[in-house]
Amino acid sequence: MTDSRICRRFVEKSIVVTGAASGIGLATSVRLAQEGANLVLVDLNEKGLAAAKQRIELKKKEITTVAGSVSDPSVIEEAVYAATTWSGKIDGIVNNAGIVGDLQPFCSSTDQDYEQLLEVNLKGVLLGMRTALGPMISQGSGAIVNTASIAATRNIPLFNLYGMTKGAVMSLTRSVACEVGNKGIRVNCVSPGVIETAIADDLARRLGKEEAAKRHEITLRHIPLRRRGQPDEVASAIAFLLSDDAAYITGIELPVEGGYLSQ
Ligand SMILES: NC(=O)c1ccc[n+]([C@@H]2O[C@H](COP(=O)([O-])OP(=O)(O)OC[C@H]3O[C@@H](n4cnc5c(N)ncnc54)[C@H](O)[C@@H]3O)[C@@H](O)[C@H]2O)c1
Repeated sequence: MTDSRICRRFVEKSIVVTGAASGIGLATSVRLAQEGANLVLVDLNEKGLAAAKQRIELKKKEITTVAGSVSDPSVIEEAVYAATTWSGKIDGIVNNAGIVGDLQPFCSSTDQDYEQLLEVNLKGVLLGMRTALGPMISQGSGAIVNTASIAATRNIPLFNLYGMTKGAVMSLTRSVACEVGNKGIRVNCVSPGVIETAIADDLARRLGKEEAAKRHEITLRHIPLRRRGQPDEVASAIAFLLSDDAAYITGIELPVEGGYLSQ
């Protein structure tokens, strides 16, 4: 996005972003830094984190990185604590890290597939919310955005367990939003459609060139805008929900899917 379209909604704000080394998390981190935020970036991918930090520091913002899994409570505690060290408070957290796992028919799935998806996609979000809510409740403010998926509300072949975890993220978003609204805290999620990131590339690799091209063609027929989304288009929606522009919005799932769900 060109700098002329960027506002400065997060000056002096401290925000944690998980899954920040790549795709939607990286685009969100860049966007928030452009708008003035100080950031704590969390990811399993240490090299990717270092590259993200270097890229964002060009915008002269305060950046801290925490390498590790979002399903490890000590990693999340370290990230939330780091965010509070700049100004004594944490203004936001984006619980975005996620995996697709091994896509296969439900009857062939294993306990290991299920546990791995739950660990990252659900426990990671749960820990992020619960840990950030401690200081947010004390300070009486804060905004949380979780990354769900249209796979929670629309049947996408083989996305059975993945869709289940994202459905749980939506449900938790709504219930926590209702619990903490009276404490000055908003909780929302974005629900991306088909976005061009490493997840999409990895899927295409696993399906093979021919099958991937066939699926791509079919998918585009379901998308009124007739193209896949870009990570920075999801980042815009996340930044909106985190910002005061969304001051009266809580407990929602904001689809960012080129109209996929309307078809
Ligand atoms: N790309 C899409 O089409 C799409 C659609 C709907 C939802 N989503 C969701 O968007 C989010 C971001 O995905 P993306 O498309 O940007 O993919 P991505 O693979 O580009 O980014 C995901 C990031 O999360 C990190 N990560 C994975 N497991 C982690 C863990 N346990 N702890 C910490 N970091 C971890 C990865 O290292 C990676 O940097 C995910 O929650 C995904 O489910 C993506």
